[in-house]
Amino acid sequence: MTRSSKDLIYASKQDKVEKFVFDEDVAGVFEDMIQRSVPGYTALNQLLPIVANQFIQEGSNVYDLGCSLGEASISIANATNCSNIQIHAVDNSAAMIKQLQARLKSLNLKFPIQLIHDDVAAVDIIDGSFAVLNYTLQFIDRSQRDMLINKICTGLNKNGALLLSEKITYQDVNEEALMQQLHENFKRQNDYSEMEISQKREALENVLIRDTHEQHIERLQKAGFSKISVLTKYLNFVSYLAIK
Ligand SMILES: C[S@@+](CC[C@H](N)C(=O)[O-])C[C@H]1O[C@@H](n2cnc3c(N)ncnc32)[C@H](O)[C@@H]1O
Repeated sequence: MTRSSKDLIYASKQDKVEKFVFDEDVAGVFEDMIQRSVPGYTALNQLLPIVANQFIQEGSNVYDLGCSLGEASISIANATNCSNIQIHAVDNSAAMIKQLQARLKSLNLKFPIQLIHDDVAAVDIIDGSFAVLNYTLQFIDRSQRDMLINKICTGLNKNGALLLSEKITYQDVNEEALMQQLHENFKRQNDYSEMEISQKREALENVLIRDTHEQHIERLQKAGFSKISVLTKYLNFVSYLAIK
């Protein structure tokens, strides 16, 4: 990834903490923000092309849903052995798409990536062999989540796969409290102050809404995925590999 500025969005005291949005300020520091906030983000993105290559079929479509700065799309484009695939990178944040557009201009990729500035709910998934939904479902209204996962499963070819990554919550209150505590410690270790942690927590309240592991498994099964595995787990951040 290119170097982004340091995330200082919550570094000074805000009179009123606004709801978190993926605007220009966030897009400008996103690389730093996600690496310092999401345990295992770099490791997952190292695994991603290895997993993608296992499933991507010649002549098919690949989807990066909630692509932000295109980390998944770019690593797939660089690593694929196929010569005829179409990669679609979708995000409803104008700021993210604008930054990704600029980033792609500076890279010499084997494949063009089609950028789609739209809601993932509005995008057709057709003839897909691999889809990525990394840390995005948690920002989508709960009432829309089943529909989205159903649509992805329907749009994948036989043996196609979805990589789904999410921050999860726990049924057990003690486990939930422990994992939240450990996640906040992870952020402290990555140089976020107490004020940054608490203001970001407030901004994300009712914006990032987490499901449990059990809810994710049930949703993926109901949608029609036949094999579902936990690919990675770092504290309360889980990546599922769901095969049609
Ligand atoms: C945490 S970021 C995803 C990170 C990215 N997948 C990665 O691995 O670097 C969530 C992204 O989803 C996008 N997003 C949220 N809701 C969306 C929706 N309904 N449709 C399209 N994009 C959405 C946001 O704009 C944001 O860029």
